[in-house]
Formats: sequence, C-alpha cells, structure tokens
Amino acid sequence: METATTIVQVRQKVSLARKEGKTIGFVPTMGALHEGHASLIRTARERDCFTVVSLFVNPKQFGPREDFHLYPRPLQADLRLCETAGAALAFHPSAEEIYPLGFQTSVEVEGLGEALCGRARPGHFRGVTTVVLKLFNQVLPDIAFFGQKDAQQALILRKMVRDLDVPVEMVICPTVRETDGLAMSSRNRYLSPLERERAPGIYQALLELKQEIVQGARDASELAGRLRQRLKAIPGAELDYADLMDTRTLAPVGRLQGEILAAVAVRFGSTRLIDNLLVQAP
Ligand code: PAF
Repeated sequence: METATTIVQVRQKVSLARKEGKTIGFVPTMGALHEGHASLIRTARERDCFTVVSLFVNPKQFGPREDFHLYPRPLQADLRLCETAGAALAFHPSAEEIYPLGFQTSVEVEGLGEALCGRARPGHFRGVTTVVLKLFNQVLPDIAFFGQKDAQQALILRKMVRDLDVPVEMVICPTVRETDGLAMSSRNRYLSPLERERAPGIYQALLELKQEIVQGARDASELAGRLRQRLKAIPGAELDYADLMDTRTLAPVGRLQGEILAAVAVRFGSTRLIDNLLVQAP
C-alpha cells in the first residue's frame, strides 16, 4: 500500500492508477479505524477499485466543546488496517494541507443538517460537506463508500452530490455491528466497561420498535414514544433524540407507510452514540 500526505502526491498516484484503466474507489475516514471501515474498504476492493482511504480528523465538524483534541489518532494501526483490508493508497494530510491559511469557503446542504444530530451539533454537517467535497476534488474518485450508521450524513452527502453535480457514485454500506448488536464506532472506545455492557440496549430498543411495526403498529408518535421510553430505561443512558422520519427528507411521519428511518442518539457520560434502522411498514 502506498501513502500520501499532500494533495499533489495523492493526485499523482490516483492519476497513474486511472491511466492504468482502474476505477478509483474512495473511503473517507477520520481514522481510529474499526471493522466498519474495513468492510467499506473491502466493498471497494470487491468492486475492483483502486481504493483510496483518507485519514483526517476534520476540525471543522467538531463543536468548541466536542472531542476534537481527544479524538484517537492511532496512525500506524490505521495504516495496517487499511493495508490488510486491501486499500491501495492511504492519504493522511495535515490540517494545514486541507485548510491552508486564509481558507474561508464552506459548503452547506440547507435544512437537512438542522434536524437530528444537527440540533445538538450546530455546524457539524457544514464541516462534513465542506471537507468531503474538498476530499472529492483532491482524490477525484469514481465511487465513494460511506456507512449507513451515519444515516443523516449519508443523506446529506448524497444530496450535496446531486445538487452540485459532483461526478461521484455514492455507495452506502450496511452498518457493521459487534456480536452483541452495538453499532461499530470509533467512539465506542470511550465507553467504560459498564457503559460498554449497557450500550447494546440501543440496538435492542430499535429491534423492538421494528418488531412492533412488523406486528402492525403504524402510529409514528406512539412508536417513537415507546422507543424513547426503552432508551431512557437503559441504565446510565441519557436520551438525545429518537425519531421516526421520512428516509429522504427527514421530515416527521404521522402514520407509517413504506420505508421509514428510525434514528437515535444516546449519551453515556460524555460519549454520544448514534444508531438507526431502516424499517419497512409492509
Ligand atoms: O464519517 C466520518 O468519518 C466523517 O464524517 C467523514 C465523512 C470522514 C468526514 O470527515
């Protein structure tokens, strides 16, 4: 596996691969990689891509009181995981490379970034869209791979790509879970052993919601109410949000019909975990 730290290097290496007729696959990450990231890299490899992984903890998507400085940066372990999963190139630029002095542009998908995580993290999605569009322009991929775990992020990035005619195919891959159901996340490592034991209750609550829907429940506000009760009942958990909404607009739904997104965010101490399920109301 090759590595690059500058935009010039990454462009040179990608352009060589393209000249060899390869399709460029891209997995943007903030590092602290886990099996969820590995599965994105493997999916890109299965599509026969020259797979580029970026490792960049993007300061613009963290609020002033968030964990930017604490965010884990285990570069050597990350590079090993990239190589083992089949990446061809790891791009780990410095903050100055991405945001040189005088940088003052941002990209925002209006509306979609204000719901759900946007309420607790104002400006977060502006930071995400800005860095992802920059990374797309640096790497120039044909296909980009993201996880469904960050459902709102995936939706917003898809909209950005559509609205701005970005010539990148967006592939959203299923959430990868620990054996006890907890969605894999770089932030799981912040959990104490006791919190880690309790955190799978989030997925359990989502599965119970799904079960209710499969059995015929259709009233979104009643379903959301019971989902919130279940989440609040997890010892040590503090509910941020639990909502049922339209999968494309994130608008609240009344009676369930077709596919809906059930998305939740829960805090264990200072660790904020998110999860979601796409559920079909048959
Ligand atoms: O999902 C993430 O890890 C980040 O939000 C992303 C897409 C790499 C942008 O920094």
